[in-house]
Amino acid sequence: MTHYRPRFQMDCDGVSVTTADHLDGGGSDFGKAYIRFFKEDFVGKTDSLLEWCCGPGFIGFSLLGRRLCKTLTLIDINREAVDVCSKTIQGNGLACRASAHRSDCFDDVPAEARWDIIVGNPPHVNTRTPGSTDFQRRKPPVIYLDTDWAIHRRFYNQVQGHLRPGGSVVLQEKYRFADPMIFQSMAEDAGLAVVGAVQCSEPYEEYYFMWTRLPL
Ligand SMILES: C[S@@+](CC[C@H](N)C(=O)[O-])C[C@H]1O[C@@H](n2cnc3c(N)ncnc32)[C@H](O)[C@@H]1O
Repeated sequence: MTHYRPRFQMDCDGVSVTTADHLDGGGSDFGKAYIRFFKEDFVGKTDSLLEWCCGPGFIGFSLLGRRLCKTLTLIDINREAVDVCSKTIQGNGLACRASAHRSDCFDDVPAEARWDIIVGNPPHVNTRTPGSTDFQRRKPPVIYLDTDWAIHRRFYNQVQGHLRPGGSVVLQEKYRFADPMIFQSMAEDAGLAVVGAVQCSEPYEEYYFMWTRLPL
């Protein structure tokens, strides 16, 4: 049986993030690769940033803490994740720069809401993918499971309407579970231009950033 620690605080680049083991989908570890990506590889505007599938918001709060974005919106289907993000916002006095909301993909996001950049570490495992059992034993399915890539497909079908012109989507994915071609065709079918699949910097080379963009 898995024993989870109760809620605790974790420093994410100067932001004290409220978290819990069962909400952590790896953003506190390999999600750190986003910092180097934004400093060295990313070209584009990052004023307003959305973290989709935010969990406790490790990625978004780190980018905000490093001043790599000006405002941060966090969304997740799990109310408990949204609740811990709200605690972090309150505890760090970030209410004028950050907000957290419950939403299943973009279903509960206002139709007119748009961002410069959307990041996220979504569920990585399609049940049909072999070799995924270790992670499945350790975490609740909402963290890892995306059967037949239905969540990704819905995300790519909806995301175009929530990007500013020229806006980017940078999702963190794992080579072992999904070939970049899977997401490339989903994004192209949805009218996004594919910038590329960028391998994460060491020590997170098992992961890549799927970078797509809404044409200007
Ligand atoms: C791999 S975890 C990542 C959590 C956190 N961002 C991290 O990096 O540790 C995936 C997250 O996606 C959320 N999620 C799953 N299905 C979703 C959906 N349909 N819409 C929004 N969020 C979803 C889960 O609740 C979970 O927090």
